[in-house]
Order: sequence, then structure tokens, then C-alpha cells
Amino acid sequence: MKKKWIIIVFALFAFSCNNSGSDKTLELVENTLEKVQQHTLLMAESLSDAPGRLPKTIGIDGELETSNDRWWTSGFFPGQLWYMYEYSGNETFKDWAELYSERVSNQQFTTETHDLGFIIFCSYGNGYRITGNEEFLPIIKNASESLITRFNPEIGAIRSWDRASWNEPWQYAVIIDNMMNLELLEWSSRMFNRPDFAEVARTHANTSMQYLYRPDGSSYHVVSFDTVSSSPEYFHTHQGYSHESAWARGQAWGLYGFVMMYRETGMPEFLEHAVKIADFIVNHPRLPEDKIPYWDYDAPGIPNTLRDVSAGSITCSALLELHRYVDEIKAEQYLDVARKQLHSLCSEPYLAEVGTNRNFILKHSVGHMPNGSEIDVPLSYADYYFVEALIRYKVQFGIQ
Ligand code: GLY
Repeated sequence: MKKKWIIIVFALFAFSCNNSGSDKTLELVENTLEKVQQHTLLMAESLSDAPGRLPKTIGIDGELETSNDRWWTSGFFPGQLWYMYEYSGNETFKDWAELYSERVSNQQFTTETHDLGFIIFCSYGNGYRITGNEEFLPIIKNASESLITRFNPEIGAIRSWDRASWNEPWQYAVIIDNMMNLELLEWSSRMFNRPDFAEVARTHANTSMQYLYRPDGSSYHVVSFDTVSSSPEYFHTHQGYSHESAWARGQAWGLYGFVMMYRETGMPEFLEHAVKIADFIVNHPRLPEDKIPYWDYDAPGIPNTLRDVSAGSITCSALLELHRYVDEIKAEQYLDVARKQLHSLCSEPYLAEVGTNRNFILKHSVGHMPNGSEIDVPLSYADYYFVEALIRYKVQFGIQ
């Protein structure tokens, strides 16, 4: 009898610890979202008199570095503003979101990049989802039309980079990052009754699953195809440590991409693949205690090398979605990692004080280590996926 009571008391204690753990996360998320609003407003104000410019990073001179709309990251800050409008209901964010989205709108017609999902769907996709403004629809449709011009049915993939881009032997480069642009096509397929958009997205995802992944669930960064035989020719990296290493942001893009493709299609093979990637990440022996990855899981010098906070925030947002689609044991494991990531990102050394860090929210990302550019800096996409993760957490665990 006594033993039974000890077990009951222990179970209640464990339950309350677990519960207070998640409440603590929610409290931290809510407090951080207040700070994020301030960061975001300050950033919007700082570029109000710089027509056409979008925040990118901090340059080596310590100043805010911006881009024009052609750079692949241009849609993230408009997207961050839409998220802040959604979260706060504050019309000031809506005004800024419209203004900054307008700065990227011309990209709807570009056929020179595969990054149209990042540019147009993070901005106008969120804008339409939140406001229902039908003026945004043709922009999203045009972007989808532009993106599918880069699809080669023989290879079964959207071309990522054009041949002339770098001094590389790649005839037809397909990179893992490109999975992220498929959400634009899946959404547009439904909205505009265009089965061809979804067909392209699913074929590209299948080709990526077949050729960009290794048996352990890690991904190559770049696979280049021979345009005559349509066969894969080079298995390379561009931003990772080596061709056979696991570049941290690439693993994050792949995870997020396959979780999203499962949500959009309901196809079990995409879920199974997402789980395989998640397991590679969450069980990785070199994923640090605070769950913010080093810039490459095989980087030399671990633990004395840099983290990539952008990989951490993308992974966190993806795990917060994936845990809802899997069995209880896996859900608990993925949620535990996502919570640890949120606790890390919501504090020092990653979260910046309001009014510092040139108004970016997070510090310590790595853009392109082999190129020696964007090393240990803030990046607009680290902020975007962090804000998304905070809102996902709040929506899933906040008191409705
Ligand atoms: N899509 C480029 C990058 O992740 O750096």
C-alpha cells in the first residue's frame, strides 16, 4: 500500500515538473515575442528612407547590410512583419508589411532564380493568408509560373543555380535548399486549380529524396545532373565543410521541406523521410547540449567552432510542426529538442538586447563559411524562422 502511494506521489511530481517545464517555455516565448515586436519595429523604421532595400545581415564594418529584391533573402523581413501583425493585431505592422512586401513584388516575374518561394511566399503568401487581400493573388500566381519555367521533366527537378553562376562543373545543379520553394507551388496548385504546379513540386521532392540523401538520413548540398543522360553526375557541397559532410543549414532546409511536403500532400513517404532526417539531427552525437548546431555537423574543430543559429531556428520551427504528425514517443523527443532550442534562442548568447545588433533579433549565424562571408553574424532568415517557431509554439501551447 505504502509503495503504491510512493508511486502516485512520484507520478504527480513528474507530471507537475513536466507541466511547469512547458509553462516556462510558453512564458519565455511570450516575453520574447514582446521583445521581437520592438526589434521588428526598429528595423522597419531604420530602412523606411531607403527605398527598395531589405535587411540582410551585419557587414564587416559593423553596419547594417541590406540587399535589393533580387537577393534570395529579400522576402524574409516582409514575412517577419506579417507574422508580427498576425501576432499583435497592431495595424502599424500591417502598414510596414505592405510597404516592405511591395519592395519585392517585381520578383514575381523573375525566371533567373529558384528562390521565388522564399521571396514571394514568405512575403505575399503570409500577407494573403493573414489578410485575404486578393490583390496579392496574381503576384503569387505569377511567381509560381516563373518558378516552373526552371523545371526539367527529364531530370525531374527545378534547376537551382544557372550554369554560369560559378566556376563549377555543374550542368544542372539541384540544391537541398530548393525544397523550401515547393510550398509556393503546392499552395498555388490548390488556389488556382493548377495540377501542373503540384506535379512539379512532387516530382522535385521525389528526385531530391532519391538523389540528395545518404543512407543515414543526411543530405548533400548540391547534386548536379548531366543534361544529356539526366543522371546525377556530381555530389558536392557549396556552403558546407566537404562534399561528404552534413552542412547544418542544408539538413534544416531538408527537414523543413519534407515536413511541409507531407502537410501539403498527405503522402506518407514524405513523412517517413522527414522522420529519417529528424532522427539524424536529434540523435547526432555532435548536436550540442543547447541543441543549436555547429555550422556543419562534421566541421573540423568541434566543439571549438561556430554555431549556425539559422540552422537552429529552421530546425526548431520544423520540429514544432513534425511532432504533431508522429507517434507519442517520437513527438516527445522532437518536442523536447524544439523546447531546448527555444530556451537557447530566447537567451544569451543568441538573443540580442532590443536596440542592439542593428535591430536583428538573433546573433551568431553562419552564411557561407567556405567563402569566408557572413561568419558569426545575424541573418534575416534566422530571425524569420525563429519568429515562426515562437508563434507556432504559442499557437500550439498557449491558452486559447
Ligand atoms: N539558400 C542559401 C543558404 O541557405 O545559404
